[in-house]
Amino acid sequence: MRGTSMKPQSLRRAASVILAAASLLIGGATSGHAAAGPGQAGPDRQAAAEPVLRDLAAAKGIYYGTAVTASKLSGTYGAVVGEQFDSITPGNEMKWGSVEPTRGTYNWSGADAVVDYAEAHGQKVRGHTLVWHSQLPDWVSNGSWTAGTLRTVMTDHIAAEAGRYKGRIDHWDVVNEPFNEDGTRRQSVFQTAIGDSYIAESLRAARAADPAAKLYVNDYNVEGVNAKSTALYNLVKSLKEQGVPIDGVGLQAHLILGQVPSTLQANIQRFADLGVDVAITELDIRMTTPPTSAQLTQQKAEYKAVTGACLAVARCEGVTVWGFTDSDSWIPDVFTGYGAATPYDENFRPKPAYYGIAEALGWTDGGTNPPTGACAVTYAVQSQWNTGFTAQVTVRNTSTTAVNGWKLAWSWPAGQRVTQAWNATLTQSGAAVTAADAGYNAAIAPGASATFGFNGSWSGGNTAPTAFTLNGTACTSP
Ligand code: XIL
Repeated sequence: MRGTSMKPQSLRRAASVILAAASLLIGGATSGHAAAGPGQAGPDRQAAAEPVLRDLAAAKGIYYGTAVTASKLSGTYGAVVGEQFDSITPGNEMKWGSVEPTRGTYNWSGADAVVDYAEAHGQKVRGHTLVWHSQLPDWVSNGSWTAGTLRTVMTDHIAAEAGRYKGRIDHWDVVNEPFNEDGTRRQSVFQTAIGDSYIAESLRAARAADPAAKLYVNDYNVEGVNAKSTALYNLVKSLKEQGVPIDGVGLQAHLILGQVPSTLQANIQRFADLGVDVAITELDIRMTTPPTSAQLTQQKAEYKAVTGACLAVARCEGVTVWGFTDSDSWIPDVFTGYGAATPYDENFRPKPAYYGIAEALGWTDGGTNPPTGACAVTYAVQSQWNTGFTAQVTVRNTSTTAVNGWKLAWSWPAGQRVTQAWNATLTQSGAAVTAADAGYNAAIAPGASATFGFNGSWSGGNTAPTAFTLNGTACTSP
């Protein structure tokens, strides 16, 4: 629909972005990505090739998207969004309360930032959302309306917002969450003032404002076949019969670990059979926190299954995760005791779920998938004085299999010597250092990490090591 801009190749080579101890970043090739500040996207590494979700998805004919927070679209966060996803949805910035907090006063800054970012990174935009009972400004939710006055306000709002971004939005979630769990209509201000017709009227107004956008109705707890999804099904059927412009159905998919509906694919298929597209629009899979490695492994399987269900139905256009990192997820704020719902941890490290998505999209890594011993290392000098220094090293198991006993090896670039270590046994031969586990920390579960520290000496320079291996397998490092 829109022209695509160049994808940032250097970022692709940089593979998944590991949070850097910025001051210690080694020199060398840095990203040409506009959104990546110095030291943030990371230099080229000897990393095992990480999958790129947007490329894998494109090869399968779907998109892979994420909800984003506009104010965070720089640094590591922005780099991962640009590298991995080919569709973005503003998490809040296009909601009515954000764009028109008081009547006739618009604030488009956040929404503009998301659309501009997407265009700079060759990404689609899911507009979210025009008509919803929640995150409304007070003047709408508390107004005293007749059908006529609210209809005018509603269609004016749609004309203003969809019109502003005309031609730049691929999919609009025109109406969000219109149903109760039992399939009756939610008694939103729109439903109570205007009646059932508000949905058709919203869709017509959106089509008039942006004829190229695909228009969706979006809801939650409609992923499996149940009373609510059947109500949505009947709505879509009736809208189609009346010639109302509806192009697709969004299944939010805010799921709970262990509760992916077994009828997900069949449900997607029945909507497709009505002649509309389907998208998974807000996928997250929450679990009790802190997560165990077994939970993270199960989450991998469930991300894989949901992605697979979309792939299995030709009219399923794509999947959007509701935040790609656990540090930008709404779950802990809303569901007490739950979290870890997204494919990346809070430090932008890929979780097993990320590999589950990649596997569903056809990614393999030579049969060791992900490679046994896959690891990510951060190395930080904590203090440094005339000839000495103290450093801390964290090695994270980014594979899906447990590490039982480890040796982490690196080579000093500038003649440093280890003098004393804790939480690991360090030996040095020439420039080569080997850190062996200290017994009690020999096991590193998938997604978990071990940390050790040491004192060393230096002279001339204290350049950080550039490459690490864990039990002989190369790790990623900033
Ligand atoms: C959430 C946002 O992620 C939060 O930041 C905000 O505080 C509340 O809304 N269904 C939707 C989304 O359609 O718009 C919601 O987003 C999550 C549930």
